[in-house]
Amino acid sequence: MSPIVIKKAILLAGGEGTRLHPFTLYTSKHLLPVFDKPMIVYPLTNLILLGVETVYLVINAVHRAQWEALFKSLDLSVDILLIEQERPDGIPQAISLCESYLDGDPFFLALGDNILLGSGLLNRFCSQISDNPGDSIIISYKVSNPRFFGVAELDDNGELIKIVEKPTDIVSNLAIVGLYKFNSDAPSLVRNLKKSARGEYEISDLINQYIAMQKCQMLACNEASDYWLDTGTIESITSATIFLRELNLSGIKVIGNLTKD
Ligand code: DAU
Repeated sequence: MSPIVIKKAILLAGGEGTRLHPFTLYTSKHLLPVFDKPMIVYPLTNLILLGVETVYLVINAVHRAQWEALFKSLDLSVDILLIEQERPDGIPQAISLCESYLDGDPFFLALGDNILLGSGLLNRFCSQISDNPGDSIIISYKVSNPRFFGVAELDDNGELIKIVEKPTDIVSNLAIVGLYKFNSDAPSLVRNLKKSARGEYEISDLINQYIAMQKCQMLACNEASDYWLDTGTIESITSATIFLRELNLSGIKVIGNLTKD
């Protein structure tokens, strides 16, 4: 992997997981199994592969004991700090909650219900970061159902104009996946945000500030070799489980073996 020095990451695992009732009435969505591991292990493994030393895991306080039990069972090469989010007011709020720990350093932000697999994808992400140290870096993935995601709007020359969150009209088929790199200016840019019509601070609005300042680079996933699985619903957890099992049966090594035994 390219020699970049980003030692801190925020990993989001808060929220109420209302789309996953009844399971999320007693546990966090991110602790549910996807194939043979808890969901959170997949994004956590990517952060470890990226060379992160400390992960600020944003959680719903009611699940603290379960998180502590999980981390006792894993063999981790990173420090995990549990950060409680009182109300799920939006993804950028996690940056504000972690601001004092970030201490002006660049950082990764990862969504705990996103699984990103790909041959060389993390290397390409690191190269983008090394080549554009002053910019935020986002990743796009071609999808057939863009209205469920933040979606990239491009001009006629293919330049990124803005990210539209959950578009009702067709913008493009390029969804923005839940792994981002931001710089020291992110916490102050978060302070400019207003809640959206759905009552949340939106990560797309933060990215749009970087685009307006011409400080955002978008890396496209490779259609032939990269996979992005959003595991926010029962259907998508089931599909991801089947997919990862097939990969495993075919002998392709799947990321995420962090257990002690
Ligand atoms: O999955 C990628 C999409 O994730 C992006 O394309 C969108 O731009 C982004 O807004 C986000 O959309 P979702 O509607 O899928 O976000 P969701 O509410 O499911 O939250 C994503 C993760 O962040 C999930 O693991 C729960 C966590 N979360 C979310 C919120 C709103 C928190 O920890 N705290 C929060 O306040």
